[in-house]
Amino acid sequence: MADLPVIPVIVAIDGPSGTGKSSTSKAVAARMELGYLDTGAQYRAMTWWMLANGIDVNDPAAVAAASGKPVIVSGTDPKAPTITVDGQDVSAPIRGQEVTSAVSAVSAVPEVRARITELQRAIAAAAPAGIVVEGRDIGTTALPDADVKIFLTASAEARAARRSAELKGREAADVAATKAALIRRDAADSGRKTSPLAKAGDATEVDTTDLSLPQVIECVVTLVEERKRRGR
Ligand code: DC
Repeated sequence: MADLPVIPVIVAIDGPSGTGKSSTSKAVAARMELGYLDTGAQYRAMTWWMLANGIDVNDPAAVAAASGKPVIVSGTDPKAPTITVDGQDVSAPIRGQEVTSAVSAVSAVPEVRARITELQRAIAAAAPAGIVVEGRDIGTTALPDADVKIFLTASAEARAARRSAELKGREAADVAATKAALIRRDAADSGRKTSPLAKAGDATEVDTTDLSLPQVIECVVTLVEERKRRGR
C-alpha cells in the first residue's frame, strides 16, 4: 500500500518569556520530525545588527529606515537551530544583556515586524513536514491559519525562577531583578500597538506553572496528534 502523503502541520506556540516556550517547541519539533523557528531570535538578530551598526534603537524612524538592511537567516533543525546576520553566527551575542534590553523597542517598530513576519511566512511555507513556530504574535498575526495554536502561560514567580536558572553562570542570576526585568519586557511586548503579545481566540491556553517540561511537551504533542488525525 502506498504511504499516505505528508500533510505539513503548522504549530504556533506563543506566550511571554519564561513559560518554557523554547524548550517545549524544540522538543515537540524534534519528536514529531518538524522544523523549528525561534522568532524571538529573529527580533534579537535585528536588534543586534542595529546596535552593531550604531543605530539609535530608541529612534523608531532610524530603526525603520535601516530595517531592510540586515540579511537574517534561520536554520530550522530543532536539534541544532542556527541564526546568522549577514553571514555571521550571532547565536551567542543575541542572548546578551545589551540585546535583551533593546529588543522590545526594536520589535515594536512596524517596519521591523513587517520584514520579520514576511521571513517567518516564507520559512513556514517551505517546511516540508511542517514546523513549530514560537513567538508572541504567531497565532494572531504571523500565521493566523496555523493548524494548532498554543498559548503558554505561567506565574511571574515561576517564569523568573526559570529564567534565572537559565542565566546562571552567564550573567547576574538574581531572581528579583530577573522578575522585574521580565515584567517590564512583557508589559512592553503586550502594550505595543503593532501585533502585541496576545492569545489568539482559537488558541489552547496551557498554564505551565505547576507542570514539568515533559508534561508540557506531552500536552502539546497530544494536541498536534489530535489535529493531524482530524486533518486526514
Ligand atoms: O522570546 P524572546 O525572549 O527571545 O524574544 C525576544 C523579544 O522579541 C521579546 O521581548 C519580544 C520580541 N518578539 C516579538 O515581538 N514577536 C515575536 N513573535 C517574538 C519575539
